[in-house]
Amino acid sequence: MSPYADRLAACQRRLAGSDADGIVLFPGRNLEYLTGFAEEPSERALFLFLTVDHEPVFFVPELAAQQVDDRTPVEMVRTWSDAEGPVELLAALISELDLDGSHLLVDETMWARFTQLLGSVVPNATFGLAEELLAELRIRKDGAEIAALRRAAAAADTAMMAIRDLGSDGVGMTEAELAARIETELTAAGGAELSFEPIVGSGPNGAMPHHTHSDRIIEAGDPVVVDFGTRVDGYPSDQTRTVVFDGEPNEEFQAVHDVVRHAQKAAIETIEPGVTAGEVDAAARESIETAGYGEQFIHRTGHGVGLDIHEEPMIVDGSDRLLKPKMVFSVEPGVYVPGAFGVRIENLVVVTQEGCERLNTTPRDWRIEG
Ligand code: CO
Repeated sequence: MSPYADRLAACQRRLAGSDADGIVLFPGRNLEYLTGFAEEPSERALFLFLTVDHEPVFFVPELAAQQVDDRTPVEMVRTWSDAEGPVELLAALISELDLDGSHLLVDETMWARFTQLLGSVVPNATFGLAEELLAELRIRKDGAEIAALRRAAAAADTAMMAIRDLGSDGVGMTEAELAARIETELTAAGGAELSFEPIVGSGPNGAMPHHTHSDRIIEAGDPVVVDFGTRVDGYPSDQTRTVVFDGEPNEEFQAVHDVVRHAQKAAIETIEPGVTAGEVDAAARESIETAGYGEQFIHRTGHGVGLDIHEEPMIVDGSDRLLKPKMVFSVEPGVYVPGAFGVRIENLVVVTQEGCERLNTTPRDWRIEG
C-alpha cells in the first residue's frame, strides 16, 4: 500500500488549518515524501500545486509526464513542451486555481529562478516556506519510515562492527583509506548510498566535528572519531563511535570518553513523550559541564533524521518542542580538545510511548576487544 495518498490528504488538512492558501513544491525531499517523485531538479519548471479545495496538480515538462504518472498517485498532470515553454500554461493554471493574491508556501530548496518565475505569474501573492507546514507533518514517522530507518541503522551497525574488527590493522591506515573501507562495508551491508561523506577524525583532527578525512596516518594510541551512515529504501542512518585501534590513549582522553558516554546515557534516559527537546539537550550538557568540559561541547545534542539527514526535531538548548512517539533523532554529545582529540558518541533513537528505543546497538567502548 502506497503511503502517498494518505500523506497528501494529511498535508491538505494541515493547509486548511493554516493561514496559507497553497503549497508549491519543487523536486526535493518534501515532494518525495508526499508523492514518491524522487528525481533531481533541472532547469525545466516542475511543480506540485496543493490547495485546500482542488485536487493536487503536477505541472511538469512533457518529458517527465510518464514518470509522474507511473510513480505518483497524483492524477491531474499538466504538461508543457520545450517548444511552447512554461510561462503561459503556468499562468493559466494559476488563474484556474485562483492563486493570485494568495499566500503561497514554497520549498526552501526551490531554485531562485523558479521562485522568480512564480513571482512573475502571481504578482500579488505573498510567499512563505513550505517547511513551516511540511516539517510538522514529517516529524513523526509512519510504520514504513521507521522500518526503513531500522534497516539503515542495522546496515550502519554491521559496518561499524567490521570497522571494529580491523583491530590493530586500523593503525597505519590513512583516514581516507579508512573512509573508503567504511563505504565498502556499508555497501556490503545493503546500503544504497552514503548518508554523507564519512568522518574519520584521528588524533587532533577529531577535535573538528565536521572534519571529513585526510591523508593523516592513524597511529597507535590515537583516538579516532568515526561518524557515518548509509541510505536503505531512501532513509539514512547516522552513527558515531570514538575508538582506539591499538595501543593506549592518554588519560585525559579516557576520562573525557567516560564523560561523553555518561552524558549520552543521561540524555537518552531523559527521553519520553512530553519532555522537551531542550530538556534532553540540558541533560547531556549538564553532565559535561559538571565534568568541566562545557566550553568544549560546541554543538547541539542532536537532530531529527528522516528523508533528510538533518531535520526536525533539533535537540538544542532552549527548545520547548515537546517530544512525541514516533519522532526519530540522534543523541550525539561531544567534547573537542583543540590540537589533541575529540570524542563523540551518537545513536539514533525512536521515541516510544514509555521512553525511547535505540536504533544502534554496537558497543560504545573506545577499547576494541581483540
Ligand atoms: Co548526526
